[in-house]
Amino acid sequence: MAASARAFVLRNTQLRAVPGVEDIRLHLAYEVLPLWRAAQTETGDEDAALPYWAFAWIGGLAIARHLAAHPELVQGRTVFDMASGSGLCAIAAMRAGASHATAADIDPFAIAAIPLNARANGTRVTVVGRDVLDDDPPDVDVVLAGDCWYEAGLAERATTWLRRVRSAGIDVLMGDPGRRYLPIESVIELAHYDVRTTTVLEDLENKQGFVYALRDG
Ligand SMILES: C[S@@+](CC[C@H](N)C(=O)[O-])C[C@H]1O[C@@H](n2cnc3c(N)ncnc32)[C@H](O)[C@@H]1O
Repeated sequence: MAASARAFVLRNTQLRAVPGVEDIRLHLAYEVLPLWRAAQTETGDEDAALPYWAFAWIGGLAIARHLAAHPELVQGRTVFDMASGSGLCAIAAMRAGASHATAADIDPFAIAAIPLNARANGTRVTVVGRDVLDDDPPDVDVVLAGDCWYEAGLAERATTWLRRVRSAGIDVLMGDPGRRYLPIESVIELAHYDVRTTTVLEDLENKQGFVYALRDG
């Protein structure tokens, strides 16, 4: 699957600058549904995941902007990007001076897209292609989580895992546009950014993306 997934990503995306973080380029798509149908055909699986990896989501965009504005958060530090999609947050961390970044995702096309995107930005990201949300916290300094609160099941598991991560003394940065399942009472807003997205994904093209820390306890 790895080689064919890589070919699929290259065939179905264009390498483009990310709005608001133009020094990062990603293999991105313009439309969701045709790409989803192509993924269903490619995998022979009608339940293939939506192609989240082919878009820069608002949560990830907010984290990428925040790291560009505050490189000291990751400079010389090790980073783990949970639910990485395109790899945007991990790549932004490396561009901001992180010593090493690991990106985790469960979608085989994301797993193929992340190294391609890292390479397109002159950097490297280690990929973990499995569900880590029942694992112990990773051995890193900072965990990033961009746009994980769009669906109840993932949101609950991601929040529980991030609480464990935070309890282990690891810094946690969460990016989100105010989605339904964000545990707003458990987070502290650090910054917000006007980000440009697409109405293919969201109700408006211009949205606010928030960066949060997780409250202790
Ligand atoms: C909305 S996208 C966000 C991608 C990226 N962080 C961003 O902000 O652009 C959510 C991502 O979570 C991934 N995902 C869903 N469940 C997961 C799990 N249990 N472990 C890791 N990744 C998961 C999906 O495959 C998808 O790539």
